[in-house]
Amino acid sequence: MNIGKIIADRRKRLGFSQQMLAEKLNISFQAVSKWENGTSCPDVAILPDLAAILKISIDSLLGYPTQSLTEYDKRYSTEGYYWGQTPNTLCYEIMRLKPPTKPHKVLDIGCGEGKDAVFLARNGYKVTAFDISEKGLLKARELANHCNVKIDFFKADVRDFRLETDYDIIFSSGVFHYIPQEQRMIVIENLKKHTLASGINVINVFVRKPFIPLPPDIEESEILAGDWRSGELFMYYHDWQFHMNEENTFNCNSSGIPHKHCMDVLIAEKI
Ligand SMILES: C[S@@+](CC[C@H](N)C(=O)[O-])C[C@H]1O[C@@H](n2cnc3c(N)ncnc32)[C@H](O)[C@@H]1O
Repeated sequence: MNIGKIIADRRKRLGFSQQMLAEKLNISFQAVSKWENGTSCPDVAILPDLAAILKISIDSLLGYPTQSLTEYDKRYSTEGYYWGQTPNTLCYEIMRLKPPTKPHKVLDIGCGEGKDAVFLARNGYKVTAFDISEKGLLKARELANHCNVKIDFFKADVRDFRLETDYDIIFSSGVFHYIPQEQRMIVIENLKKHTLASGINVINVFVRKPFIPLPPDIEESEILAGDWRSGELFMYYHDWQFHMNEENTFNCNSSGIPHKHCMDVLIAEKI
């Protein structure tokens, strides 16, 4: 993403007009407008102030989204399992719709510390899983060894990874909000193409609602990816059969500060 688009996205997320941002920087609003429409770039000398006002690092302002990697590596470096070891309830939906009467091939995208991948493997699925975090993968491998299951874990970035083999089930929980707006169609078309006939995609994604404040622990990479709109995920699967398409609002305390999230959940079958 270019710097103008990052400034515009971030400014809007913080509820500033171009005029308000200009005043904070002691410059004209035309200068801000020029940055945002790509006719000029901010001077290097202004970057530290601009980044501070937009509550973003200079790296991220320049389009280097490194935050999710370091953030998750940090979380996964602590003792124990950050997300616990209880499988996501969607795993039971997978078992209901595609019972392991044969070793269905599953791909878990953004598997974290592997609780869902391991659960599915223990139940007879042939699981492949990837994540961007080495630390998460390390724990996931340990969990798989401990449970005596074989899983093909590897490191990849959902934003630029493209599948070459086909799967019966593609699963992803709590990850798609990292996919930038302009890449969503490409990523999802690739997943759909590499889902076998009668296979399913099971995906959830955080969506933005104007009446729910931004979470206090929102990450830069999520901000840079841009909001997911309510129903957007469902739209990409308009030509598949839906087994679940629901939107849930729930309370969260992840940062120690109580807040709310809204999430769209999809289970769709390739007919
Ligand atoms: C909210 S956690 C969910 C983990 C796991 N799916 C679960 O439900 O336990 C988000 C995961 O996405 C991973 N992630 C973040 N950005 C990613 C990217 N660009 N490509 C792949 N994984 C990514 C993080 O490392 C993290 O493990």
